[in-house]
Amino acid sequence: MRKQIAAANWKMNLTFQQGEKLLDDILDAGINLSPDQQVIFAVPYPYLLMTRSEVEDAANYEVAAQNCSDKISGAFTGEISVEMLHSIAVNYCIVGHSERREYFTESNSLLAEKINRCLEYRITPIFCCGESLAVRESGKQNEFVQTQLGESLFHLNAENIKKIIIAYEPIWAIGTGKTATAEQAQEMHAHLRSILAAQYGQEVAQAISILYGGSVKANNAKEVFSGPDVDGGLVGGASLVASDFKEIIRSLK
Ligand code: 13P
Repeated sequence: MRKQIAAANWKMNLTFQQGEKLLDDILDAGINLSPDQQVIFAVPYPYLLMTRSEVEDAANYEVAAQNCSDKISGAFTGEISVEMLHSIAVNYCIVGHSERREYFTESNSLLAEKINRCLEYRITPIFCCGESLAVRESGKQNEFVQTQLGESLFHLNAENIKKIIIAYEPIWAIGTGKTATAEQAQEMHAHLRSILAAQYGQEVAQAISILYGGSVKANNAKEVFSGPDVDGGLVGGASLVASDFKEIIRSLK
């Protein structure tokens, strides 16, 4: 079975002390994960080492960066390379979140470079895709995500695409409280898997975890995750509240 994943994206929230307390509160619950389940905390850069040591003894709890540079190293003040992440044993990185696409003008081709850097250092990219409200209302969401996948991922061979986690995050559902319905999520996830199958074959497509993101809450996670092609979630706001995120972890298939 492919991995079922609850990923927390803290974005630019919480102080170090608040983050530490949140992790303590979540980990103290001792929620055991099956070998097919995983929890990933995508935290701000200065908290990565602390988070790594917090999850050290908890099986299948992992740490992610929220972004990385497309460059290898050099005079890029303020940037963080995948080599740096690798050197502190961070094994996951979000790539192409819609907030980075929008506010930092990250393009599909730039994201292809970030994906390559991650794979060079055996960091698993959590690749985000998803359409805006305008695209959804025009009925073009399927073509839109197909282009995102095609331009950022389809240069990879079958062996490497299997190392990617995909997160479908419709922009109209992020931070808005307007979750996609379980049917909408399942429909899009099945579409994403069919695009992957057309490119790489069924066996590869079936192996890739596809997470849903956008207003996942404690009270809707179980339903949203219920679709056969929905392999968990990438969670913003609700991942900042220990009781909510614990419930979301417990909602994994
Ligand atoms: P919300 O859960 O706050 O809608 O954010 C989703 C998201 O962007 C996760 O990356």
